[in-house]
Amino acid sequence: MKKYLKNILAATMILSMTTALAACGGSAPADNNEDANADGAENSGKQKLVLATSADFPPYEFYEGGEVVGIDVEVAKAIADKLGYELEIQDMIFDSIIPSIVSGKADIGMAGMTVTEDRLESVDFTDSYATGIQSIIVKEGSPITSVDDLLAEGANNKVGVQTTTTGDTYTTADIEKKGLGTVERYNKGTDAIEALKAGKVDCVVIDNEPAKKFVESNEGLQILDTEYTIENYAIALAKDSELTEPINKALTELIEDGTVQSIVDKYITAE
Ligand code: ARG
Repeated sequence: MKKYLKNILAATMILSMTTALAACGGSAPADNNEDANADGAENSGKQKLVLATSADFPPYEFYEGGEVVGIDVEVAKAIADKLGYELEIQDMIFDSIIPSIVSGKADIGMAGMTVTEDRLESVDFTDSYATGIQSIIVKEGSPITSVDDLLAEGANNKVGVQTTTTGDTYTTADIEKKGLGTVERYNKGTDAIEALKAGKVDCVVIDNEPAKKFVESNEGLQILDTEYTIENYAIALAKDSELTEPINKALTELIEDGTVQSIVDKYITAE
């Protein structure tokens, strides 16, 4: 696991470098979606900023009354407002977010997405706006009581994760590849939780804030005290996107004037 922490630190360093390089570019917001612009012009006259997300991840993005809401959505909206764009939300499975940015179908990806070295090979990230911790959810009374139980010699657990999330990457490397159990991959975090409830997996590895929401809304589940890893969330953009610099500037302003914190406070109540 230490290895992953190191990777994350390295990723953070690369991230700062990317940001510094982007800052040198000093270009104006991109006119990168002319088709969308033509559509958007009908209602608001504004150019669209297309957000790719995976709305299965409360409190960052989830459905409420048929609408996608959450911290990421509100921060994205605040950024779009500041830069004069109209935000268009595209909900998809988490696994499709990076491909949709690479192919230019979406402008930004915000989905409680962790900055990783692997992802930095295909996309850029803005500065980080939040941190996440990989947590372990078990059924109450489970024989698994800590991360060490999952990694112990002779362990043989079925671990549920959301496909291609960092929870998937870590457990695949630390558990499956080492013969300490198997990893069951689900398109949605909520499907992994259902599998846990149905006894199809022994635990679910997922980010801490969604973990808390899932445990609140499902009886008989608990989060283990031990944490798996700590990560940085940031906004993904196409490599060398001209949006990186203006978005970073908007993000910094929104962090400094307390907007981001007030959005977080709306969705996460302090313990
Ligand atoms: N932080 C993890 C990652 O980046 C999980 C993100 C999952 N997000 C979601 N909206 N389902 O891999």
